[in-house]
Amino acid sequence: MRSPVRRGNGELNASSSTPGSEKQPQTPPLLGLKGIVKRFGEVTAIDGVDLDIGRGEFVTLVGPSGCGKSTLFNILAGLLEPDAGGEIRLHGEPVGAGGLLGKVSFMPQRDLLFPWRTVLANAVLPNEIEGKPRAESLAKARAMCAEFGLKGFEDKYPQQLSGGMRQRVALMRTFMFERDLMLLDEPFGALDSLTRSLMQRWLLGIWEHHRRTVLFITHDIDEALYLGDRVVVMTARPGRIKLQFEVTLPRPRAPELLTSAEFMALKRRLLDAIEEESLKAFSGHDE
Ligand SMILES: Nc1ncnc2c1ncn2[C@@H]1O[C@H](COP(=O)(O)OP(=O)(O)OP(=O)(O)O)[C@@H](O)[C@H]1O
Ligand SMILES: [Mg+2]
Repeated sequence: MRSPVRRGNGELNASSSTPGSEKQPQTPPLLGLKGIVKRFGEVTAIDGVDLDIGRGEFVTLVGPSGCGKSTLFNILAGLLEPDAGGEIRLHGEPVGAGGLLGKVSFMPQRDLLFPWRTVLANAVLPNEIEGKPRAESLAKARAMCAEFGLKGFEDKYPQQLSGGMRQRVALMRTFMFERDLMLLDEPFGALDSLTRSLMQRWLLGIWEHHRRTVLFITHDIDEALYLGDRVVVMTARPGRIKLQFEVTLPRPRAPELLTSAEFMALKRRLLDAIEEESLKAFSGHDE
């Protein structure tokens, strides 16, 4: 069993500031964001995001469509440069523009598997780009296939797989690229609800085993609570952190937890916050 970095005292810690501010961590957070802004011409996608992520944490990020979640991920993956003025720290050290490229593993919103590459060849792509010996990466991917439910499909092409399997290939590729921080952008967004809940349980098992720090975007409130150590809610665009709280549910998390009174209470709180922002987004509120 992993031991979480920051433990709550059983109470909800709702705060509009970073959670580190209520209790000083002894080591700097794995990732520290301060005042991150990104404008696209007239559109301010995100407007002053402050967020700390502790090592080993599983943080889920929710917010209305278009509030800048994927934009934030693209910044963290080093694919997009934030506007001047904000600060990004990795292990306490400031990282400049482009300094994050290759530092985190990233699963984008679409699975982006290459149709002409097999399961294994897709899984090893980031390692290949990084210059790791191909044979070594292929052997590692092959060994991971069983854990990712892909045994027997190693040499198949994406179009020969189900939606859930494609998502697992994309996840395996992200796990293969071993980095301190893993960004997952709605990895289960396209799946039916049964497959989705199976994948959630499976992911928790994998996460317990690999102990990665995860930042996970989802629109699914149950998913955000079931998976996360902490849930972070963003406002409607321009995106900021509206509130965040620790999910004080024990681990390992059994599926029965989803119908418990404790879960329902957390869900009510989260729903209220999200509904308020979704209504703003829906009524065209901007800036
Ligand atoms: N490359 C880009 N060029 C111009 N505008 C962009 C670009 N990327 C994102 N935007 C705009 O930034 C805003 C935030 O988009 P983003 O994709 O980050 O939202 P999101 O929160 O991930 O939404 P969803 O939940 O629908 O995936 C949107 O208004 C979008 O149109
Ligand atoms: Mg998105």
